[in-house]
Amino acid sequence: RTLAGVRTKLLNWFDKNQRDLPWRRTVNGARDAYQVWISEVMLQQTTVAAVVPYFERFLAAFPDVRALAAADEQRVLKLWEGLGYYRRARHLHAAAKLLVAAHNGDLPDDPDVWAPLPGVGRYILGAVLSQAFDRPLPIVEANSLRVLARLFAYPGDPREGEGKVWVWAAAETVLPAKRAGDFNQSLMELGALICTPAAPACDRCPVRDNCEAKRLGRQDQIPPKKKQ
Ligand code: ADE
Repeated sequence: RTLAGVRTKLLNWFDKNQRDLPWRRTVNGARDAYQVWISEVMLQQTTVAAVVPYFERFLAAFPDVRALAAADEQRVLKLWEGLGYYRRARHLHAAAKLLVAAHNGDLPDDPDVWAPLPGVGRYILGAVLSQAFDRPLPIVEANSLRVLARLFAYPGDPREGEGKVWVWAAAETVLPAKRAGDFNQSLMELGALICTPAAPACDRCPVRDNCEAKRLGRQDQIPPKKKQ
C-alpha cells in the first residue's frame, strides 16, 4: 500500500540524509531520554542551528536529570538566556525535581508518568517517548505540519481549529509501528531540508511521487501562509 511505501522511503531517506546533531547521539543504539527531552524543549521555540550551542552548554552543566533537579533555578535560567520563553526552563526544572522525588530520577517509558509533568504537552510527550523508547506516538510541529498538509493536500489551515485535529490524526495514521522516533524525525527533517515553506526542492524529495500537493501543482499554496 502507499502508506507503507511512504514510511519506507522516508525512513531510508532519513538514514542517509539526517544531520549529525548532538542530541541524536546513541549509546548502544539507544538515545538518552534526558537528552531527547532537553533538546525537544529547546527546539520547540528555536531553530536547530541556534539550539546546538545552548544544548551543549546545558548538558555540560546538567548532565542528567539529578543534576538538573539539584541545580539552583537562577543557574538554569542563566543557561537559558537568549533562548527566550523562560517559563519552559522553569517547567523543565520543576519536572526534573518531580521525577527525582517521585521516580528516583528515572525517566520511564510510561506516558502516564510524563503527561502530568509541567511543560509536557502532546508534542513533548510524543517526541520523548517515540525517540527515546520507540513508542508509536505521533508528533506535530511546524515542519512536519507542512509535510503532512502537502502529502495529503489538506485544503484548510492545519494550524487552526479542525485543521489541528486533522493534522494530529494524519501524523498518527502515517506513523509506522516500529522506528516511530526516526519516522517522526524524518518528517521534521524533510520539512527543514527539502519541503521548505517557499520553493520546496521536490526534485530531491523521496516521497514526491506520493505527494498530492505536488500532483496538483499546489505545493506553494499548501499549507496556506501563516496569518500574521
Ligand atoms: N525539530 C524539533 N525536533 C526535531 C528533531 N528531533 N529533529 C529535527 N528537527 C526537529
